[in-house]
Amino acid sequence: MTQKISAAITAVGGYVPEDILSNGDLEKMVDTNDEWIRTRTGISERRILKGTDKGTSDLCVPAILQLCEKRGIQPSEIDCIIVGTVTPDMLFPSTANLVCEKIGAVNAWGFDLLAACSGFLYSLTTGAALVESGRYKKVVVVGADKMSSIVDYSDRSTCIIFGDGAGAVLLEPNFEGYGIQDSILKSDGGGKTHLHMKAGGSLKPATIETVARKEHYIYQEGQPVYKFAVTRMADVSEELLKRNQLTGSDIAYLVPHQANKRIIDATASRIGLSEEKVMVNIQRYGNTTAGTIPLCLFDWEDKLKKGDLLVIAAFGGGFTWGASLVKWGF
Ligand code: UT7
Repeated sequence: MTQKISAAITAVGGYVPEDILSNGDLEKMVDTNDEWIRTRTGISERRILKGTDKGTSDLCVPAILQLCEKRGIQPSEIDCIIVGTVTPDMLFPSTANLVCEKIGAVNAWGFDLLAACSGFLYSLTTGAALVESGRYKKVVVVGADKMSSIVDYSDRSTCIIFGDGAGAVLLEPNFEGYGIQDSILKSDGGGKTHLHMKAGGSLKPATIETVARKEHYIYQEGQPVYKFAVTRMADVSEELLKRNQLTGSDIAYLVPHQANKRIIDATASRIGLSEEKVMVNIQRYGNTTAGTIPLCLFDWEDKLKKGDLLVIAAFGGGFTWGASLVKWGF
């Protein structure tokens, strides 16, 4: 009888750049204030990747190298690297391609997965399927974004939210049932009205006019996105628990996308989790898009115990959203 393979998370790595952009710094750039930012979003500061020669791959590399060191493996042992990102170094080649070359992952293939703030969740589910198939033994899933490259620092409604950062996990086959248990992923392209980047794709390639009209920055209508995020992230987390015959009391931690502390609180309350069971680091990093969830796992790694059940939940541009149930494996 062939044993069922599950995809266990066996190592975590994380990286945020050194440079801090505080609420106080933003007060000098746009008409805002620390009090407004903290009460509306929960954010106090975010990290910014500086240097004209640095892209998202430079956030991925230290996160993956750290993960390899912790697990005691060489990059050449990695089979595949999936990078969830909306800020690839270039449209092509893929960031995963560039990362493989930078770290010496000479036996790996890889690809970028674009699902905005759900990028890590979509990539985790995809990476898990590769491992569960029995075909791949070491799959690295990264969530990374250099959001500062697409933020308009004269737009107070978006520049206060985003930051740069990356997190990575290693997925390996497990025969004792640890790892990714279940995922529900959803998508609604109608959400593009409220959250998108207007130009730079094949629909509207870059021109002098698109640059002059600031169409290469994030466009977000905060309130409708907020309303969708609050209900969808909570709905899908509840659906995931119900379908696995679980309640909040079975869950060690909620690992939510860090877009707004109020959205996180609403999701936690819907599935009956108290504050100490919710991973929150939005105050230090802001919204790093695909980076938020693996950066939470990275920050909480020491507190996690083998067998802990985690609910990972995300909502973002697309709209894309979903939730995964993970049994911590180390
Ligand atoms: O991760 C991807 C998915 N994205 C999200 O989940 C983000 C969801 N949306 C949000 O988190 C919130 O909508 C925001 C944090 C973006 C905005 O918070 P809000 O409570 O929805 O504020 P608002 O847009 O309704 O604006 C309220 C007021 C407005 O002034 P008036 O019209 O009431 O006079 C804004 O002009 O606050 C004003 N405002 C600001 N004031 C000070 C907007 N941005 C700022 C600012 N500082 N930075």
